[in-house]
Order: sequence, then structure tokens, then C-alpha cells
Amino acid sequence: MNSEWAKLEQQLPAMLEESRKQAAKGNVAEYIPELAFAPADALGITVIDLQGRMITAGDCRLSFTMQSISKVYTLLLALMDNGEEGVFAKVGKEPTGDDFNSMLKLELVEPGIPFNPLINAGAIVISSLIHGADPDEKVERILAFFRKLADDPSLSYNKDVYLSEKRTAHRNRSLAYFLKDNEVLDEDIDVEEVLDVYFKHCSIEINCRHLARMALVLTNDGVDPHTGEELIPRRYVQIAKTFMISCGMYNASGEFAIQAGIPAKSGVAGGILALVPGRYGIGVIGPALNKKGNSTAGVDLLEKLSQAYDWSMF
Ligand code: DON
Repeated sequence: MNSEWAKLEQQLPAMLEESRKQAAKGNVAEYIPELAFAPADALGITVIDLQGRMITAGDCRLSFTMQSISKVYTLLLALMDNGEEGVFAKVGKEPTGDDFNSMLKLELVEPGIPFNPLINAGAIVISSLIHGADPDEKVERILAFFRKLADDPSLSYNKDVYLSEKRTAHRNRSLAYFLKDNEVLDEDIDVEEVLDVYFKHCSIEINCRHLARMALVLTNDGVDPHTGEELIPRRYVQIAKTFMISCGMYNASGEFAIQAGIPAKSGVAGGILALVPGRYGIGVIGPALNKKGNSTAGVDLLEKLSQAYDWSMF
């Protein structure tokens, strides 16, 4: 392991520059207007191991919003608030093979609950399950949880990105109202309030170090590797990691599992959170995306790293 760490330290910058070329094949997300300002050719990575050692390369200091990566951790909080039964009465456990914001299966398949918690429809339902007296308290609880996981008490959401998404979220709004009509969102639930919680957790601003650190807690089965405190029950970490393998890269999850074979979750700002179980937490940023919503350069880098260091779990 030590020799691998030394090799990684030495080889990562050159591997990153090679993968950066893939950025030209992607496009920065524009459907949330504020995201369009991101630098298209950026690529950065941070790797942290269980001893707290850190390797960084490229544009690892870039700040960006979590977007769908936050869904892994709101799922974990919802599980901690409601238990497995409470959560899986409202969302399924299966990949869709469809785009992350698709409405298709909500209508096609009975009983109309979202297929999994990582697609937009599922994550909106998860937002409704987070405990709190009102949307502000829910957001505060999410932030408090994420701050502990990222080991940064200053973590917050980016107001411009939040407002930009809120103004333009016609598709998410229609998904949410459809879920309300299907009574997946209960009668007493205010759809706009649920969406507000969802937009805010998608807009939480982080960098690669935060992602690597949040991944490291999953790597360590829910225990903070530095304080020894259990932040998440091991069973729920197991569930989250399984969803990352089956649905974390949307309808490219199967291909990523074959090429890289490690749990990962992407977001449309270009972030990818990945982990090598029992070993590393990894954060990547590369804002240019492929058609499926995953970072072109980021996916390339993780696949090359996994193949070079034999990280696949399979
Ligand atoms: O709801 C949305 O469309 C965004 N806030 C998050 C989507 C996302 O990150 C999908 N990821 N690849």
C-alpha cells in the first residue's frame, strides 16, 4: 500500500493531464444557467487515505456545487431519520436505464414510486423525508450533517446557483407535482417547500478535498477516521455504496462498474465522489460533461487510475 501511495503521488499529475484532453469532448451544463460559468477544461483531483494523507493534482481547489452528489448523503440522513422501511416505502432500489430527470417510469410502472433515491424524482422524495419542523430546519440539519462529514464547519449552499436552479427547474417541478398527484408526496406536503430543500442541498458548495473527505467516511464504513466517532450506521453505508455502484453514474453506471469497478456518484457541476473501499476517499472535478451528465475527463481519470492500480472491487 505504501509503495502504491508513493507511485500515485508521482504518477497522478501526468495521468491527470492526459485525461484533461477528454474535457474537449464534453460540454458544461447550461440548463441551470449559473453552472454555465464553470471552466470547461478544468480537471482536479484529491485523494485522502485512512491515515489522513492527501494527494492533490490539477484544479483541485476549484469550488463547485455538489448537485446530485448530495443525494447520496441526503439518502443517508433520511435512512437515519426514518429507517429502511420508512425510506423504501417511498423509493425503490432499482436502476432505471433512463436519464436522471426522466419522468417515463413514474407513469409506466405501478405503484409510481421513483425507481431509486439517486434519480431526481427519488431525491425529491428523499428531501421530503428529512426530519425538521420547516424547510429551513431541514436544510440546517442537512448542512450540519454534511459539515461533519466534510470536516468543515463553514460549508454552505451557493445562493446564486440555488436561485438559478429554482427559477429554471420546470422539469423537477413537474416531477414533484406528479409525485404529489400519485400521493408519493403525502397530502400535507407543500411541493414548493420540498423543492426548496432539494435545490439547496444540490447547491452546497464544496471542493475536491471536501468530496474526498466525505467519501473517506464511507470508505471507513461510516466512522470518522480521525475522531473514531460513528457518523453513519454501517448498514446504511452499505446501502449507499450499493446504490453508487448500481445508479451513481446514472445510465452509465454499468459501463463505469465494468471500467472502474468502484462506488462513485456524479453531479452536473462536474464533480465525482468515488471511493476505494477500506483505502481511499476521492474527489474529482471536471465541469465538461458527456451526454449522460458525467464529467468526461473525470470519468476517464478514474477509469485509468482504477485500471492502473487494480482498484476494481470485482
Ligand atoms: O436537479 C437537477 O437537475 C440538479 N440539481 C442535479 C442533477 C444532477 O446533478 C444530475 N447529475 N449528473
